[in-house]
Amino acid sequence: MSIIGINQEECSKCKLCLQECRRSPFYVMENGDIGFNEKMLPCIMCGHCIAICPENAILTKGMEDIDTYPGIESPETLIEYDKLFQLLRAKRSIRRYKNKKVPKELIIKVFEAMRYAPSAANTRLWRYLIISDQKKLSELSTEVIKTNYLYMGFDSGEKAIDYYKSIKRDPIFFGAPHLIVLYYETVQKNMTLLAYRGNDAGIATTYGMLAAESLGLGTCWMGGFQGAIAGNKGILDILGINGHVLGAFILGFPAIKYLRTTPRSPLKIKGLEDL
Ligand SMILES: Cc1cc2nc3c(=O)[nH]c(=O)nc-3n(C[C@H](O)[C@H](O)[C@H](O)COP(=O)(O)O)c2cc1C
Repeated sequence: MSIIGINQEECSKCKLCLQECRRSPFYVMENGDIGFNEKMLPCIMCGHCIAICPENAILTKGMEDIDTYPGIESPETLIEYDKLFQLLRAKRSIRRYKNKKVPKELIIKVFEAMRYAPSAANTRLWRYLIISDQKKLSELSTEVIKTNYLYMGFDSGEKAIDYYKSIKRDPIFFGAPHLIVLYYETVQKNMTLLAYRGNDAGIATTYGMLAAESLGLGTCWMGGFQGAIAGNKGILDILGINGHVLGAFILGFPAIKYLRTTPRSPLKIKGLEDL
């Protein structure tokens, strides 16, 4: 996937690409044409030059998903604040699920939404994993309980496991049919970008969860599962990955409906009085 130059026959030399780019591969040539020098500060493939070019004159290689549609120039017309705000307030962490797998095409839609999440320097360094095998989910749940039993209010892992078996409840994945995991492979070259991994994974996870909500699916962030990995590397073996898990959520059809919003503490914003 790369930008390979400019279609000079189409380019109107408006220089919008040059002004928009936060790096500097675009330049004005002696004859006034706009050039693209891939050897300058590396292009981060943010695609802003493609998105802004009035003539669609940026030449690309291996990019199949560049698109346009009504409303793209004014995103606020795609979903108005009140609708978005209502969705944000109505979205709950779901802890009761129907015994039914989510069709693959809906799952792909959730992943597609995560693909469009912003990330530090547009790196999208995380990897995706989905676990839909009930036996594996049950094994993972047991390992998490074994690691988190104190936090869960028990004095041994065995007691916690026996208790949840006796009430036929999985306190980790709540019977959800799928677990989606965002992880980073251990070897990362760029130390600066390492600092943003948690933010990036958090945003992508949130995109996925909001997309799921709009599809009638339920989700719940799996912080307890994520936290247990630090104390139980066996969880990574069951997942079949090597690295750091920085985002995880369960996915399924909710078996419940909520009738009201939930309370939140009032806003306190320093500096608002200066507005
Ligand atoms: C980072 C993070 C980790 C979380 N971990 C868990 C978890 O391990 N288990 C769980 O049942 N809920 C978990 N939650 C869900 C929160 O408990 C939930 O968002 C909060 O109680 C508010 O409820 P709501 O999401 O329905 O508005 C987590 C949420 C976040 C943002």
